[in-house]
Amino acid sequence: MTRRPYVGGNWKMNTGLLSAGALARGIAGDLVDQPPCDVTIFPPFPYLLSVNSILRERGVGLRLGSQDLYHQPNGAFTGEVSAEMLIDCGVRSVLVGHSERRHVIGESDGLIRQKLIAGLDAGLEVVLCIGETLEQRNAGETDLVNVRQLEAGLSDLGFERMSKVVIAYEPVWAIGTGRTATPADAQDAHEKIRAWLSATFNDQVAQETRIIYGGSAKPANAAELFSQPDVDGGLIGGASLVSADFVRIVRAAVTSRRVQHDSRG
Ligand code: PGA
Repeated sequence: MTRRPYVGGNWKMNTGLLSAGALARGIAGDLVDQPPCDVTIFPPFPYLLSVNSILRERGVGLRLGSQDLYHQPNGAFTGEVSAEMLIDCGVRSVLVGHSERRHVIGESDGLIRQKLIAGLDAGLEVVLCIGETLEQRNAGETDLVNVRQLEAGLSDLGFERMSKVVIAYEPVWAIGTGRTATPADAQDAHEKIRAWLSATFNDQVAQETRIIYGGSAKPANAAELFSQPDVDGGLIGGASLVSADFVRIVRAAVTSRRVQHDSRG
């Protein structure tokens, strides 16, 4: 089975009104030919509308994503943003469980699950981020932590909802640190995540779900990471802020998938 590659650009709390527009224009300009890859960019909330109009204007099929959402549809939740509001702004995809939200903001597995369900029920694609800290890795707990976060986020979800879920494996120690998981380590974690999907849902869900890698991915290491059989693309932080780098990473995802496909005959 050939899964369509997926590359996300997570801008985090970076850019300003003008630079967000320039970055979106740069990416859209370099991707004139629509690549056989889902490419989603995740700007900060205040720039969603303006980035959306740039993407629509350029018409290259780039998708707009949100870095977060709140699980309630509306009401007295000061500072929060609902799935419906995001959809109004052109958003089609949302990140939940990002390590910065888990470890810096303090979001619990329970809240992440509520956000995931709210996103899916509103019709959004949800990218569930999971991954172990350095301490957990050193204690040999990588797979244990991944499974715990998968169970908390996805158990009992049903096949239909799973078709709108992308999983991002992002080892916390690799995010923004310049340290990347080796392709073999990433493959090992992804393979186990896929095995969990197979045991929890079925083999079809396991084969169809995209599992992408995040954590200091850049043009220099993207091709090698993406050529692993269970690595279906990447969630890119730092390198997504430079349009030429981000586009090189998108191209690496497309080429690696083609090479894998050809080598399988
Ligand atoms: P990084 O961030 O590429 O800067 O390590 C990845 C992420 O947090 O999604």
